[in-house]
Amino acid sequence: MNARAVTVRRSARAVAAAIVMSSAWAAMPALAVELPKPAALSRQLDPRIGQAVTVAVLEPHLMHEGRMPEVRYVGFPADAVLTAVLGDGWRAPGQELTFRALDGFISRIPVERFTQHRAWLVHARADGTAFQVDNDKKGGPPVPLGPFYLVWDNRTSKAMQAEGGMQWPYQIVSVDIGPSSMRALMPAGVATTYADAAELARVHCLSCHRIRGYGGDKMPLDLDVVVKGYDAAAWKRWVLTPTAVRPGTAMPPLAEGLPEAERAAIAQRLYEYLRALPAR
Ligand code: HEC
Repeated sequence: MNARAVTVRRSARAVAAAIVMSSAWAAMPALAVELPKPAALSRQLDPRIGQAVTVAVLEPHLMHEGRMPEVRYVGFPADAVLTAVLGDGWRAPGQELTFRALDGFISRIPVERFTQHRAWLVHARADGTAFQVDNDKKGGPPVPLGPFYLVWDNRTSKAMQAEGGMQWPYQIVSVDIGPSSMRALMPAGVATTYADAAELARVHCLSCHRIRGYGGDKMPLDLDVVVKGYDAAAWKRWVLTPTAVRPGTAMPPLAEGLPEAERAAIAQRLYEYLRALPAR
């Protein structure tokens, strides 16, 4: 990485940090733990699971017309890695893991998902080719996946296959554990019936954006504020087909793997929820 790239990244981080500091909702107190290099991690793990394993998954980041190729990766079981770096306490229900990537992308995943589904933190492709995925949809260079990439056992779960890659963060550098985001996403004054929509926002939007200051650093705009500039039709058009509104945009279309009617229903539900959030 050249000096300019470093400077740019730092200043972007500084801006993001300022936004976090100024947000009404206090940032999580938890300290992010940097993941060690694979070899060091292997030594740190329980000797019985310290050997890297090969896993086959359907790769959601290579989804094309609703189909995903099978890709084989090398890595460690995620629950073993999490226990090694965070201690046993990470499994307590009602908590949320935060995976942070090199570029500010954040993925927050409830611990319950790790008890319901198997996951691995992988660091290489089994066939020895470059640890990356193509980026042909956006016309850019391939996307590197390292140092770590979180993959899920999705080969037998149609529901997991449909949800796309939002809970498959790559370029993971650190992880921490904290209270569930529901406290920030469901403030006093919003009907509890919107909890499903808050969860949809967490899964589909908050890896890049924020709600009431809570979310990712990749494109840290507050959806509860920007939604005010949209009517329902314009909102759905943007969220469902961003490139039709702004060709070449880096904003991904919502849940591409789902049927159109379901995508439209999610976009509508997000709109209603965001409009229902009390002003800050
Ligand atoms: C992978 C990151 C990413 C995810 C996930 C994402 N967005 Fe975006 N979003 C962007 C980027 C990048 C832009 C800036 C787009 C541009 O200006 O071309 C953006 C812009 C926006 C804007 C502002 C458009 C404007 O300028 O008026 C809205 C509203 C928005 N996103 C809503 C959403 C919603 C709702 C979701 C979840 C369904 C979502 N985004 C998911 C990356 C993302």
